[in-house]
Amino acid sequence: MNKETILVTGGAGYIGSHACKALAAAGYLPVVYDNLVYGHERAVQWGPLERGDLLDIDRLAAVLSHYRPIAVMHFAAYAYVGESVIDPGKYYRNNVSGSLALLQTMHEQGVDKLIFSSTCATYGNPLHEVLDESHPQAPINPYGQSKLMVETMLRDFDRAHGLRSIALRYFNAAGADVEGMIGEDHDPETHLIPLALGAAAGKRGPLTVFGTDYPTPDGTCIRDYIHVQDLADAHVCALQALERGVSSGAYNLGTGKGSSVKEVIDAIERITGKSVLHIFGERRKGDPARLVADAALFQREFGWRPVQSDLPTIIRSAWLWANRTAS
Ligand code: UFG
Repeated sequence: MNKETILVTGGAGYIGSHACKALAAAGYLPVVYDNLVYGHERAVQWGPLERGDLLDIDRLAAVLSHYRPIAVMHFAAYAYVGESVIDPGKYYRNNVSGSLALLQTMHEQGVDKLIFSSTCATYGNPLHEVLDESHPQAPINPYGQSKLMVETMLRDFDRAHGLRSIALRYFNAAGADVEGMIGEDHDPETHLIPLALGAAAGKRGPLTVFGTDYPTPDGTCIRDYIHVQDLADAHVCALQALERGVSSGAYNLGTGKGSSVKEVIDAIERITGKSVLHIFGERRKGDPARLVADAALFQREFGWRPVQSDLPTIIRSAWLWANRTAS
């Protein structure tokens, strides 16, 4: 039997590559569409790679027409919050215009299902401790704004053209494939766990803890870390739901449990047996004290559960990957 094909934009990137592995495990053929600006060819292991840019509409149309995917998973985007403030045009062009090109081309090619990689950054500054989907969306940077604009376009494309979509608002994606085949590989790296692991391994300088005077129990920021494989499995769940005919929607993906920067450092030291050299610095601009998901809605609707998102599993898998890439 021919496998059903899914086009995965940004499938050579961190979350996209884990989604490809999950798709293949569920019996789909993931076809990666990626310009390889931030993605890595070596991360494409479960189906063909079609190199291309979202803004290259002719190329995109040709790939859609050739593979006739039943749906698209759309990960391709720039995702550096700080850079988006300095160079908003880059973010609006790639994340918004690129997504518009994708939606329009999908519509023209008759592809009518999409899973979209959104973010908790669409909420902006949290008004309360745990955020559910009804929290106002008021992004405080162009990155979050660009993702919110795409969510808006998705609603309009559904209304006008019947293109159904599920937008998944991730909290903090973390960890790596537990088999060590793929993992986080950003350049530059700005995320807490890979930087802290690099410091533990002596491969990077000391970690700067951004702020110790937040209104949290230990003074450092709290985030909801979700294992990238749990995220990937949630995408497959969402795809299967769209195949069953569910309506469009937007859902948080997190665990509902927060960990502080200090708790992450302590866990890394415990698990790796190495000390994480760190210094205490100023707050990073734009960092809310606490970002934790109420992720009950997605669990209730689709029966998905995070099963690897405890801090030890996240750290062990990221450590395995960090040591593999170092060799
Ligand atoms: N942190 C440090 N030192 C560092 C790096 C991070 O103390 O060197 C702290 C941050 O201040 C934050 C926590 O560790 O409190 C996590 O920071 P990350 O950079 O790993 O992740 P963010 O929470 O900033 O970002 C994540 C996603 C973004 C998304 C954002 C939404 O990576 O794509 O959540 O708020 F936009």
